[in-house]
Formats: sequence, C-alpha cells, structure tokens
Amino acid sequence: MATDAVTDTSVPNHDETEKEPTEFEKNRKRYQDVTSTLPQVKGWRPKAPLIEYGGHWWVKPILEGSLYAQDFFQARPSDLFICSYPKTGSTWLKSLTFTIANRSRFDDSTNPLLKHNPHELIPFIEIQFPQFPNIDVLKDKGNHLFSTHMPHDFLPHSVVKSGCKMVYIWRDPKDTFISRWSFFQKQRFEHGPLNSLEECFDMFCQGFCACGPYLDHVLGYWKAHQENPDKILFLKYETVRADPLPYVKSLAEFMGYGFTAEEEKNGVVEKVVNLCSFETMKNLEVNKGDKEREDHPSPYTNSAYFRKGKTGDWVNYLTPDMAARMDGIMEEKFKGTGLLESGN
Ligand code: A3P
Repeated sequence: MATDAVTDTSVPNHDETEKEPTEFEKNRKRYQDVTSTLPQVKGWRPKAPLIEYGGHWWVKPILEGSLYAQDFFQARPSDLFICSYPKTGSTWLKSLTFTIANRSRFDDSTNPLLKHNPHELIPFIEIQFPQFPNIDVLKDKGNHLFSTHMPHDFLPHSVVKSGCKMVYIWRDPKDTFISRWSFFQKQRFEHGPLNSLEECFDMFCQGFCACGPYLDHVLGYWKAHQENPDKILFLKYETVRADPLPYVKSLAEFMGYGFTAEEEKNGVVEKVVNLCSFETMKNLEVNKGDKEREDHPSPYTNSAYFRKGKTGDWVNYLTPDMAARMDGIMEEKFKGTGLLESGN
C-alpha cells in the first residue's frame, strides 16, 4: 500500500531482475512456509484472500514483508515512525513530517516534495525495506523517517525497544472505507475484479480487511499512546483537516523540530501547511495524470494518492443504514476507551 502500495496483492518485484537474491528473497521461503498454513477468508478481490495471523488480517506479500521487517528492521532511538491504517492520511503526514524535519535543508522551491511523491521520501518498512532495499532513501543512513501500516502489536521488537517516536493518524471509518474502496479501483496490472461496494463494506464492518480489523488497529495505537504519550502522538484526520496550523506546530514540537518564534513570525508554519495541503500536492506536476514514482514500479500512479481529500465524502456512497451500522460498531468498540471523548 506505498499505502496500499501497501495492501496491494502483488507489488511487482523489482529485484527479480537482479542476479543476486536479496536478503528478503533468501528468507522468503521461511515466511511462505508460515503463510501457507494460516487460516484464510475471501478478500475484497476474489483473487486475493485475507490471511489471519496474530489476530490481524493480511494480504500475503504484506504479511511476508512484515515478518521480514520483524526479523531484520533495526530501528534507532532517533527514528520517527509514521504509523497509520491505509487511507487515513499517511501521505499527508509523510509530506508534513518530511518538510518539518528537513526545513533547514530545503526551502519552498527546493523541497523534494515538489518533484517526488511523498511515498518516495519515507519508506514503508514492510514494503520497500524487504522488496526494494536498494532505493536511495533506504541506503541513506541520514534518513530517520520511516512508515508502517502494521498494527502496533505487530511492530518489530526493535521499534518498540529503541524508544523511537511514532505519530499515528486515524480517520472516520466510513471515509476510510470509501477512500480505500475507491483507491483499489485505480489499481493497475491484473489483480482480478474488486467485489461490490456493498460486499466490501460488509467485510470491512466485520473486520475483514488487510491490516485490519481497522478499529482494532486504531485501538492498538490509542492504548500505546495512552501508556506513552511522550512517544506516540495521536492525530485524527478530520481534526487536523479542519484547522491544520496548531496541529502542525505540535507535530513539529513532538518531533523535536519545534518552530522558533522567528519562524512563526515569518510565516514558516503557514508555508509548511500550504505546501503540504491537499490542494497544493494534488496540483503538482509530479502528482498529476499518469506520473509514476521513480524509485520502483507500483500498481498505482502518483495521482491515486490524492482523490478528494474531504471529510464526510462517505455520504455520496453509503446509505444511512450502512452509516449507522458502522457508527454503531465504532461506538461499541471504543466504549470506555476514552478515545471518542478525547477529541482525537
Ligand atoms: P480521499 O480518498 O478521501 O480523498 P493515505 O495517504 O493514508 O493513503 O490516505 C489517502 C487519503 O488522504 C485520500 O483521501 C487522499 O485524498 C487524502 N490526502 C492525500 N493527501 C492529502 C493532503 N495533503 N491533505 C489532506 N488529505 C490528503
């Protein structure tokens, strides 16, 4: 799935053309042995079943990549992880964290975001790290920004042990579902047909979705945030979308890159917000039309990551009954956790 580059059922393997097998390929048989014995249910695409492991649902390449990351990814205390369930604002958060962390190196006219999709700048440890280890960002030891869609209890031991910081973003499940279903329609290459919106929605409500159940994903990070608020920042897409400025300031503070009084006076925060806004990002040449990421092949064009960027778009797709069903499930699931009352 980049995001859903992430939950892709098959990301073309760039390294197949190389003579020497990658470390992931050398270990793959082990992961395939694990995944071949696990329980399966039908997926959103009949060709891509969901596999159950560790209380979560997976598509095979992502589970294999996650197992590899668990075994081999070495986090450092100074790393920062962008954690999210797919389609909840990962691309946006990548743009913001990259720009905040690198603002002393780049200005508005030299920021690599102007020429590269945000997913090229911050790799997923369960996708790029196993499958495309030779891309520049992974070879760059100076890079401390990583991302994942893995559930919190599935994170590599080294990530938790290192004490590195994480930022988590979540979103109304109805919009998350619509965003994901729409995204899958844009998948190129042959993955077989996608089930109807109604079928996929029913599966999503039951928790059958890659990296899901979604609400468990949110709760896992919420609990971790409550236990360790200094290490895990918890954001909600809708809240940040309504008024990004204060959240961008607290995000920078949390990351250890707080804006100085002079920067604030000079409008630097506004500039970061504007550069990373949906409207700016969607209209960059690199994110338009059929432009593709440059670091490795992907089933998605860059433009697929920028659809509408609205809150409440579900109303154009779901019936009131469907919405009430999802809301009821969420309220029940989050009851007593403090999440819904927190304003997050
Ligand atoms: P929609 O499909 O509702 O438009 P992710 O990045 O986790 O894959 O999430 C994708 C969702 O975030 C999409 O939602 C996309 O349009 C939206 N998005 C992408 N960039 C954004 C930005 N800079 N600001 C706000 N929303 C953004």
